[in-house]
Amino acid sequence: MVVFRDLRGADIDAVLAIADARLGENYITGKDFVNAQVFVAEDVVNVAIAGFCIAFVDSADAKSYVRTVAVSQEYSGQGIGTALVAKAVDYLEGLGAKNIFSPLWKHDGVVNSDVIFRRNGFLPVREIPDYWLNDSIEKGYSCPVCGKGCHCTCVMYERFSSAR
Ligand SMILES: CC(C)(COP(=O)(O)OP(=O)(O)OC[C@H]1O[C@@H](n2cnc3c(N)ncnc32)[C@H](O)[C@@H]1OP(=O)(O)O)[C@@H](O)C(=O)NCCC(=O)NCCS
Repeated sequence: MVVFRDLRGADIDAVLAIADARLGENYITGKDFVNAQVFVAEDVVNVAIAGFCIAFVDSADAKSYVRTVAVSQEYSGQGIGTALVAKAVDYLEGLGAKNIFSPLWKHDGVVNSDVIFRRNGFLPVREIPDYWLNDSIEKGYSCPVCGKGCHCTCVMYERFSSAR
């Protein structure tokens, strides 16, 4: 049985291991949990973290974001990613968000998480080439496709109020 709850300190190593495996090494670090709301999916029978999702409100422009969602391979296809995004949407709407954004990774012409965001009322609004390039150089993380210096395209998704 999987339950959804807020991140606890004891979950951090497991969450970072999922992030490294699914999103690229060091793309997510402990710093990404500061000033953010992180939800985890926990398999309470096997006492394992199955996935996580990060939501935050940008202090610069007050825009709300579902920044990242990842589910470990062995738990994929069970609705966990969709449910994690739903938790993040509920949280941001609870703070008063009208529109919610999510920069999603496009690889080989496909946005892996397109289905789970559409199920939560998001739609693609524009594409941004080299979206992670500066970040990947500054943080030194390794993209699963490009390695150092990420040239992947982001598709910005947006969810309008009451879309789900
Ligand atoms: C994308 C991801 C979060 C989906 O998590 P999940 O728990 O498997 O998602 P759900 O079970 O809720 O939904 C599965 C749906 O997503 C789609 N999907 C999952 N992985 C996909 C992939 N690699 N390519 C295309 N579609 C995919 C399928 O259509 C599937 O629908 P179905 O169950 O009707 O067949 C997970 O595969 C993952 O962590 N991927 C790597 C990291 C990533 O790309 N994160 C998004 C960037 S922010």
